[in-house]
Amino acid sequence: MRTEVLCLREGQEEEKIRKAAEIIRAGGLVAFPTETVYGLGADALREEAAAKIYAAKGRPSDNPLIAHIADRSSVYELAASVPDWAERLMDAFWPGPLTLVFPKKAIVPDGTTGGLRTVAVRMPSHETARKLIRAAGVPIAAPSANTSGRPSPTIALHVLEDLNGKIDCILDGGEVGIGLESTIIDAAGAVPVILRPGSVSAEMVREVVGTVETDPGAEHPVKAGVQPKAPGMKYRHYAPKAKLVIVTGRDEAVAERINGLTAEYEAAGTLCGVICTEETEAGYRCGNKKVIGSRRHQETVARNLYAVLRQFDEEDTEMIFSESFDGGQLGQAIMNRLKKAAGYHMIRV
Ligand code: TXA
Ligand code: MG
Repeated sequence: MRTEVLCLREGQEEEKIRKAAEIIRAGGLVAFPTETVYGLGADALREEAAAKIYAAKGRPSDNPLIAHIADRSSVYELAASVPDWAERLMDAFWPGPLTLVFPKKAIVPDGTTGGLRTVAVRMPSHETARKLIRAAGVPIAAPSANTSGRPSPTIALHVLEDLNGKIDCILDGGEVGIGLESTIIDAAGAVPVILRPGSVSAEMVREVVGTVETDPGAEHPVKAGVQPKAPGMKYRHYAPKAKLVIVTGRDEAVAERINGLTAEYEAAGTLCGVICTEETEAGYRCGNKKVIGSRRHQETVARNLYAVLRQFDEEDTEMIFSESFDGGQLGQAIMNRLKKAAGYHMIRV
């Protein structure tokens, strides 16, 4: 299969989006930008379209997909029941980086939900995504547009790296804004439960609903034999080829430990890398240090995380040491992805 790249910055946007929508309607696969990461879209109401997504990504078929909608009214076509507090969350955060899980209606095929009786629904704010969904006239099932296990794509080139020849088309809308996947909240129970942290933080949910819980799988490794609520959490996501270790503590102590470790590993011939920030960069001696962003602008760290992990892969880095990024609106989401990438390998100093 030849993968066609339609670049939206080069004009004729409407025509390109119409073309992509036709591919979706015909049961094909289109990668498209959202405000979080690039998604790999197919018709959410066709069982065989979802099967194509799983095949292209190499994704386990019990890992359900998020149905993306462009209008609030569509949620009632997919969800069998919507609690009042979920309505308030939609008022506050839709369109935007929030996914809600509801009991599903029969119209949603089991192929889309990995056999679950619930369906995850999200209304993205990215204009291209919304135009594509409207033009397709169906909800679009879309996981992140990466090969299963690789970091999610934040530019069209990442999608091409992973899926060239495996999908029909890529809508290239430039770099995404947020860089980490949406917050997922279980709305099938009595109170909101965060299944995956994202840029809509627990605090922001609490402000709207008054209460919020966090599923243990969102913060700790899932124990063997336990079926997590979001099946995706049991897989080793966002994994770079290198071993990644997070070092946490006071800035100077972290730099000192990482300098010691990189010196040791490099002496043994291991290719090392360091993830640091504008504020801390000067403290590192390792030749291959990458500035992920600025501590004063946490959103830059979120936006660059996956691209930095991909760069280390390209350079065949074997051992990566990273600072940690707790606190603030994005801290929980950044650390969730970083810890998973590290297989929860952390050193406290
Ligand atoms: O920001 C995002 O959410 C991006 C963009 C493309 O919209 N999409 C995304 O999809 O991150 P994906 O497939 O990479 O991650 C979806 C996660 C998986 O961990 C999956 O297990 C969980 O959502 N999920 C989907 N449906 C679910 C359901 N019915 N119940 C519980 N978890 C569900
Ligand atoms: Mg994903």
